[in-house]
Amino acid sequence: MPSSAIISVKNISKIYRVTDVETLALKNVSFQVNRGEFIAIMGPSGSGKSTLMHILGALDIPSSGQYLLDGMDVSKLSDDQLADIRNQKIGFIFQAFNLLPRTSALKNVCLPMAYAGISKAQRLSSAIELLTRVGLSDRMYHTSNQLSGGQQQRVAIARSLSLNPTIILADEPTGNIATAQAEEIMAIFQKLNSEGHTVIMITHEQDIADHARRILFIRDGKLESDHPVSKRRFSKLKV
Ligand SMILES: Nc1ncnc2c1ncn2[C@@H]1O[C@H](COP(=O)(O)OP(=O)(O)OP(=O)(O)O)[C@@H](O)[C@H]1O
Ligand SMILES: [Mg+2]
Repeated sequence: MPSSAIISVKNISKIYRVTDVETLALKNVSFQVNRGEFIAIMGPSGSGKSTLMHILGALDIPSSGQYLLDGMDVSKLSDDQLADIRNQKIGFIFQAFNLLPRTSALKNVCLPMAYAGISKAQRLSSAIELLTRVGLSDRMYHTSNQLSGGQQQRVAIARSLSLNPTIILADEPTGNIATAQAEEIMAIFQKLNSEGHTVIMITHEQDIADHARRILFIRDGKLESDHPVSKRRFSKLKV
């Protein structure tokens, strides 16, 4: 029977070398993620969370071990194939939003679709729909620097969805925004997850992690624990 794992990480390690300094950022990490899961990755600063997310997102490759993304061995793909996989399967969301500052929300969301060769009419209608989904129908023509942190992150979420990715990877998506707005971002993630997207997010905050259904805890490059979010906690949430 085919496995339903969309992500399968087996014994991956990552070594960074900068001049004569060597950092073993990940040490023999193994886990699987099934389609439709909602996972939080936690751990101290410098423990290897972003390194792991870069590998999961095919932005980087492990130094050793195997990473199967939807059954494909990522280390065997060419740079072009990696770029295609990223575009087709993965939506990225970052702590610093990474939007173009003096550019409208609408244009920010349209950009990945323009690079993907989608027609102008189609990308405009998709961008309007996506911005409406994240509650920004009245902010389409605001530029990023005219939006609050939470609103900017919602634009970034809409942008990450523009090519309809299976997997959403978010590196501290609420790290730069206030608590009330962070709750709104989590409500959006839960909705996207209930619609079938696999969501993996890094967070330092337990309250944020508790919105997921499973928590991976990384310490010193190792996967220290992997457990479900307790039902008591999950049942308190508005889904
Ligand atoms: N591109 C790089 N080159 C060299 N070393 C790196 C690189 N990226 C990360 N590191 C090192 O690898 C280790 C893990 O870094 P990583 O960014 O994955 O941590 P993190 O868990 O995301 O931390 P934080 O919570 O502070 O974001 C750190 O010691 C860091 O200095
Ligand atoms: Mg990090």
